[in-house]
This record gives sequence, structure tokens and C-alpha cells, in this order.
Amino acid sequence: MIGKLNHVAIATPDLEKASALYRDTLGAKVSKPEAQPEHGVTTVFVELPGSKVELLAPLGENSPIANFLKRNPEGGVHHLCFEVADIGLARDTLKAKGARVLGDVKLGAHGKPVLFLHPKDFGGVLIELEQA
Ligand code: CO
Repeated sequence: MIGKLNHVAIATPDLEKASALYRDTLGAKVSKPEAQPEHGVTTVFVELPGSKVELLAPLGENSPIANFLKRNPEGGVHHLCFEVADIGLARDTLKAKGARVLGDVKLGAHGKPVLFLHPKDFGGVLIELEQA
């Protein structure tokens, strides 16, 4: 069911420092920070051949990554995002297999429908599915 790895998301308390690591130390192409108020994060995209890394820093009061950064003050891998062809079908199939879907399908940071799966059902890893 899952296809391409769309991105790996890394939460960081310091977006400039994280950007500098990928840009200057690892030599990747790194975008400018982009505020995503409706998602409670500021994002930086690290462009890689065929995939990307997304650096996420909290934005505003109720950022969805605030608790993660409380538990991991240095930051760390927050989620993996895989592409699926049909998000509604993926949701229904996963629910039928007993996986917990967090909330419902919504529009993600790339304007495409996404959903999240409970990390307790996936070996401690938060998984995002994005309709390609
Ligand atoms: Co994501």
C-alpha cells in the first residue's frame, strides 16, 4: 500500500542551527523557513534526490511538536511520511487492520490530503501518509 518515502520530518528547537547543519556541514540544498500557522510549525525543506527532509520548529502556542520537544529537548526524528495512491482507502484499510488513525484526513503542509497513524501501533514511529 505505501509507496515512496516522501519525507523524514525532524523536530528542532533551533531552525537556523538545524538548517546550517544540513546546508553547511552536509552540503544539501536547504529552503528558506516558511511559517505554516495553520499547522503550528515553521518548516525548512532539505531537498534530496527523490525525497526530502523537513525540519520543523514550533510556531505559536499550541504547536503539535511542543510535547515532542519537551521530551526531546535537542530535537530528533518526528515522523516518516509515505505516499499512498488513495488516502481514504488507506485509512479504511488501516482501521480494518486495527491501526489507530489520529484524527481524520486533513490538508497537509504541501496542500495534499494527509493522515497520521499512532506511533504505538508502529514500533514507536509516528507515520504520516500523504496522497500523492
Ligand atoms: Co510531514
